[in-house]
Amino acid sequence: MTEYLIDIKDVTHAYQTQSGPLPVLDGLNVSVPEGGFAAVVGPSGCGKSTLTRLIAGLMKPDAGEVWLHGEPVKGPRATVGMAFQNPVLLEWRSILKNVLLPLEIVHSKLSRREQEERARRLLALVGLEGFEDKRPSELSGGMRQRASLCRALIHQPEVLILDEPFGALDAFTREDLWQIMHRVKEEEPFTGVLITHDLRESIFLADEVIVLSGRPAHTQYRLTVPDTGPRDLDHLYTPEAAEMLNVLRHQIEIAQGRAPAEAAE
Ligand SMILES: Nc1ncnc2c1ncn2[C@@H]1O[C@H](COP(=O)(O)OP(=O)(O)OP(=O)(O)O)[C@@H](O)[C@H]1O
Ligand SMILES: [Mg+2]
Repeated sequence: MTEYLIDIKDVTHAYQTQSGPLPVLDGLNVSVPEGGFAAVVGPSGCGKSTLTRLIAGLMKPDAGEVWLHGEPVKGPRATVGMAFQNPVLLEWRSILKNVLLPLEIVHSKLSRREQEERARRLLALVGLEGFEDKRPSELSGGMRQRASLCRALIHQPEVLILDEPFGALDAFTREDLWQIMHRVKEEEPFTGVLITHDLRESIFLADEVIVLSGRPAHTQYRLTVPDTGPRDLDHLYTPEAAEMLNVLRHQIEIAQGRAPAEAAE
């Protein structure tokens, strides 16, 4: 039994490629307590998306353990919700019907009417009230991403995995989405893992930032973001935030091999 809701212990994984095995993860450890929100940052190609597939049970590691809520992960689970950089919404369905899609696959205790009410409530929570009957192409990129977030949450997953969900958005839209994320987490508690390239995003949203080393990735550094109450964008311009960003930026340079590892704390 483990005290963490997500517990990844000493995971090692290599992909079998035509030119031989490609080691991607090597001794990776990530633990997230119930209700926690961890951000994972690291060089491009170091294995972050691979990590999300392991948590979601879409793949098994070569060695090590992946635990979710005290049980080893053996395959895909309905208790996980996922959202990605490019929200894949079905053009022939309305936004409301796109959000409801997972409930056609995952069993729900809710009646049809309750499901629809929940979808409408989630859409309102992210500011998409009035867009329920629109098609995906009628929405902006930021709005599509908000709809995709609702779809990831519709079945009340215990774990929400976000793989660079805001990466393709412009800076202002991204900041809007960050604030929406805080609202969503308050209303719809989940345990989260956020993959991101944006260090400001990591400290604004997460309570712990995990820096992965270059490939094959291990956990190189962890930064706890102090809980100083509700966060607003002004927090990103405080000396404390600047200090955290500095530390993280330096760790990324080490992970990229651009700064000597002995400088690591
Ligand atoms: N199915 C696969 N088969 C073979 N190699 C793969 C497969 N999936 C990923 N890889 C390789 O494994 C490495 C890690 O990939 P992964 O997608 O996990 O990285 P990432 O950290 O998410 O990168 P990015 O930041 O660019 O999204 C990369 O070198 C990639 O080419
Ligand atoms: Mg990736």
